Amino acid sequence: MKVLIVGSGGREHAIATSVAKSKHVDKIYCAPGNAGIAAVAECVNIGAMELDKLVDFAEENAIDLTIIGMDDPLVAGIVDRFEERGLRVFGPRKNAAIIEGSKAFSKDLMKKYHIPTAAYETFDSPEKALAYLETSKYPIVLKADGLALGKGVLICNTLEEAKAGVKTIMLDKQFGSAGNCLVVEEFMTGREVSVLSYCDGTHIKTMTSAQDHKRAKDGDKGLNTGGMGTFSPSPFYTKEVDDFCNQYIYQATMDAMKAEGRDFTGILFFGLMLTQDGPKVLEYNARFGDPEAQVVLPRMKNDIVEVMNACIDGKLEDIDLQFEDNAAVCVVLASAGYPEKYEKGIQITGFENFEGKDGYYVFHAGTKATEDGIVTNGGRVLGVTAKGATLKEARANAYKATEWINFSNKYMRNDIGKAIDDVQQK
Ligand code: AMP
Ligand code: GLY
Repeated sequence: MKVLIVGSGGREHAIATSVAKSKHVDKIYCAPGNAGIAAVAECVNIGAMELDKLVDFAEENAIDLTIIGMDDPLVAGIVDRFEERGLRVFGPRKNAAIIEGSKAFSKDLMKKYHIPTAAYETFDSPEKALAYLETSKYPIVLKADGLALGKGVLICNTLEEAKAGVKTIMLDKQFGSAGNCLVVEEFMTGREVSVLSYCDGTHIKTMTSAQDHKRAKDGDKGLNTGGMGTFSPSPFYTKEVDDFCNQYIYQATMDAMKAEGRDFTGILFFGLMLTQDGPKVLEYNARFGDPEAQVVLPRMKNDIVEVMNACIDGKLEDIDLQFEDNAAVCVVLASAGYPEKYEKGIQITGFENFEGKDGYYVFHAGTKATEDGIVTNGGRVLGVTAKGATLKEARANAYKATEWINFSNKYMRNDIGKAIDDVQQK
């Protein structure tokens, strides 16, 4: 089989690494890919939003399966375009990817089908939003309706902050048209857990849990980022939580989408908050998490291509999804200054230290191959993942491996997975 992966981040590198292990695959392409993905796939110089070119490429090169890693092309309808040309593709269609593409849609869906989530109101006029905020309880959460690289969420502690937030999102349009509509949501507290799942339109199978660290600095300080590190499994995701989510959230979401004529096929990502009143959905994503994929996929025992094919064919029930009984931690190596201003083009050394080391991975995100070797090319540069028998061991291994890589403005959080110290280890 020939497989094409669409995207260029650490998530796509993790997907490519899993696909490369499939016994069904002889050749992998990645568009556009990055310097690390180039070690397992042939990178093709087509951007993830160049939908026509991607479809043409898949047709001309007789690609057997295309896997869409990123949210933007999914929300733009890339899957429909591939299907119209009779090409096999893994991901939700446009009418289902809206579950990530519009927060107003996903909130209305949860309300209609009684799926636990925070109370909310939606507004398409700033005046009405401001009038509502005058009488609200604080803190309160403002969310741009559309895609905003994980940055369109503002937690406001006072009315003044909320007024400034409405201006940022709806008037200054800092997140572009994503801010045409505003969701104002009740502020919740609790532990966050990410649960990713495979879906075949009807059935859903969840993967092992993970937790992301979205803030830039230790102690969950600093600005929101795309994700600074992850661990898997989450010790806070207990059997009791899993039972609750199975009963009220996972299949309920699949059934709701089906009832709306929006059958969901692909990866459905549940961002959950474990509140005092039970687990609630913070958000849905229509693809693997980044960097959740970097800790979940290395622990998956199945052949990923078999699982994806089963999803496309509506046969997920035939798959016995299995994960290793261990743990993994991913620490993101970023450019100092991320997510604001940072330098690029800085030489990275030390990749050879990972060679032949089982259970250690260096996933590339913002990197570029040049004549002088691999250089930094983004805010999140690499994801260093290590496995271990326990979370503590995986964490120690991952931090040890971060020392194997060097670049002059290397920045990382030092407390990825530290919360696991709060709970008894197995
Ligand atoms: P989202 O993109 O919707 O997952 O939001 C990004 C982050 O903002 C989440 O991971 C939470 O840390 C935080 N957040 C979002 N919604 C809420 C909420 N209703 N209450 C508290 N924190 C929230
Ligand atoms: N790590 C969160 C996300 O991928 O949206």
